[in-house]
Parts: sequence; structure tokens; C-alpha cells
Amino acid sequence: METKIYQVNSNNDTAAIKDAADILRRGGLVVFPTETVYGLGGNATDPEAAKAIYAAKGRPSDNPLIIHVASPEDAEPYAVTSDAYYRLARRFMPGPLTVILPKKDTIPLSVTGGLETVAVRCPAHPVAQELIKAAGLPIAAPSANRSGKPSPTCAAHVIEDLLGRVDVILDGGDCEVGLESTIVKLDGESGVLLRPGAITPEDLESVLSDLSISPAVTAALREGERVLSPGMKYRHYAPSAPLTLLEGEEDAVRAFLIEKANDHSIGILCFEEELPLMPEGASLFPVGKRADLEAQAHRLFSALRDADHASHIRQLYAHLPSKTGLGLALYNRAIRAAAHTILHIDRT
Ligand code: TXA
Ligand code: MG
Repeated sequence: METKIYQVNSNNDTAAIKDAADILRRGGLVVFPTETVYGLGGNATDPEAAKAIYAAKGRPSDNPLIIHVASPEDAEPYAVTSDAYYRLARRFMPGPLTVILPKKDTIPLSVTGGLETVAVRCPAHPVAQELIKAAGLPIAAPSANRSGKPSPTCAAHVIEDLLGRVDVILDGGDCEVGLESTIVKLDGESGVLLRPGAITPEDLESVLSDLSISPAVTAALREGERVLSPGMKYRHYAPSAPLTLLEGEEDAVRAFLIEKANDHSIGILCFEEELPLMPEGASLFPVGKRADLEAQAHRLFSALRDADHASHIRQLYAHLPSKTGLGLALYNRAIRAAAHTILHIDRT
């Protein structure tokens, strides 16, 4: 299949969006930018479109899709909404939040991976907003990566994974957040955090009277364990070279990294402050400043892909993120990319 690529950075991109919307209405696939990561979109009310999405991504079809709507009320025909949903919506939508609600019959089971619930998200990115409105449909969209790769945070990542497998790619430049949306499952007034993102647990607690964090967010799943969010059981974001996360006292970890960096087949996802300390010729993939969690979120998936492209790299090291605020989302993605390999460095 031939993939059309449109630049949609400017304001005169209505023709591109109109073409993409027509293609969605005819059952085609359109990759579009959101403020979190790029999405691989199809008509959420069409079981055939869902099948095409799974095929393009190479994703098992029991992993449900998020449906994207332009405003919180637009979820009404598809999901059973609630007070708690609208309180979350007033604070965080449009934005990087996904809410799991009971589904209505308008959404085929092939979109929800057979579940009786549906994930609803209202993206803030202007291109996503315009596309949904122009199509006049809810758009089912997983992240626009091939299954097992990090989510794409710019059009180059999408082209690498999906060129020739989708009808259109709308190139809107870099995604602002860089990590996928926060997912919360609602049960009346109670919420369960299934995937951490830019909307933090503290943010959610300011609206919900009761929030718990799914153990799968921070811990390894044991064999056969049941998960609330099917996506959590797959190995994710795995770079080809094994990644080890380092924890311990700052100076000790830094000394360890500097020592390792002498070997150029070892790649290091380091903080910007560490760049000048590293030996010449070291294989470095900077992820932002130590204290700047937003920059780290923005860079993480790109850095993992860059490391993958450097074919001489046989081992990767990165700092283990903290679990506070946005750190929890970084921690969650990092432990998956590292297949839960964490090394504690003691002071020497
Ligand atoms: O930021 C995002 O959420 C991006 C952009 C494109 O919106 N989308 C995204 O979709 O990350 P995806 O498919 O890569 O991840 C969605 C996650 C999966 O882990 C899936 O298992 C979970 O949401 N999910 C979807 N529907 C669900 C449901 N009904 N119950 C529980 N988990 C669900
Ligand atoms: Mg994904």
C-alpha cells in the first residue's frame, strides 16, 4: 500500500485533514499526532477497521484499543459515563488522560479485545482534534508503533515502523509529552490507575475520593497473573541490546557509568549534566537534565530508538527513575524496557 505523508505544522493544512478524514470514513488507516505519542487511527465503530489496525501494528487482537473523541460529552453514544468521569473530564480533558468505562453496543467487541469496557480519551493536540471533528467519528487508535517497539514521538519513528502499512501519516512534528496517556479505570467513585502518565496519581487524587494503583504499574507480573489492562502483560519498549537500570547513591552511579563508557559497545542513557564528564568517543544517549522529568519523558522513547539504531551497542545502562510525580510514568516505561533488570550500585 502507498502511504501519503502530509506535513500538518502550518495552519493551512485543512486539505490534508479533509483527505485523512475521508479515508477514515472509508475504512482506511490514518496516523495522527497527539500530545502524548502518535496514534494509528481507524473508525472505532467498524470491526473491519479494528482488524486492519491490529494487522498493521502486528498486535495480538486481545489488546484493546482506546477510542478518541473531540470532547468528553462525545463519549456518550459509546460509553456509560458517570459523575466521576465528568469530574475528571472537567479537570484533565482534553489532555493526556484515558478513562475506562462500561461500553455501549455501538463499539464492537473487536475494538475492546472482547471486554465489556471501553477506553475513552480526548486528545488536546489541534491536529487530532480537527481530524476527529472532520471525520465525524470516534477514532480507535493504539500507539503508531509496530508491536514491541517504543511508542513513536515523531513522524520519523512512524515512518520507520509503518510506511507502506497505513494510508496516511499526518506529520505534526514532535509530541509534547512523549509518554502515553495516563489510564484510570473507574468503578463508581473509585479509580484504579492502570498506566501512569503525565496526569499523575496526585492529580487524580485531587478529583477522585478513592484511587488505587495497580500493582502491575511498578512490579513484574508473575507467570499466569491476571491483569486489568491486557496491554500490561506484553513485553514493551524493548531495545535490541539489553537495558540495565541503575539505582544507588548519585556519585557512585555516575562513577560506574563513566567507567563503563570507556567501552564504546556500551550505550548510556545519561543526564545532560553527565555529558561533559564522560570519556571521549563514549556511546551516549542524553535524556534531559536530572531534575527535568518533563524533558526525560519527552526524550525517553527517542533515546531508546537512537540506541537501537547504533548497531555496535551490545549493552545499555540508564538511571532508574524515581516513583514520584511524573517519575512514576518514567519508572513504569523504564522497567518494561529493561525487562525489570535493576542493578544496585554501592558506594565504593
Ligand atoms: O497516549 C495514548 O494513550 C496513545 C495515544 C495514541 O492516544 N495511545 C496508546 O494506545 O497508548 P495503546 O493501544 O498503545 O495503549 C492502550 C492501553 C493498552 O495497554 C490497552 O491494554 C489498554 O490501554 N486498554 C485499552 N482499553 C482497555 C480496557 N477496556 N480495559 C483495560 N485496559 C484497556
Ligand atoms: Mg502502545
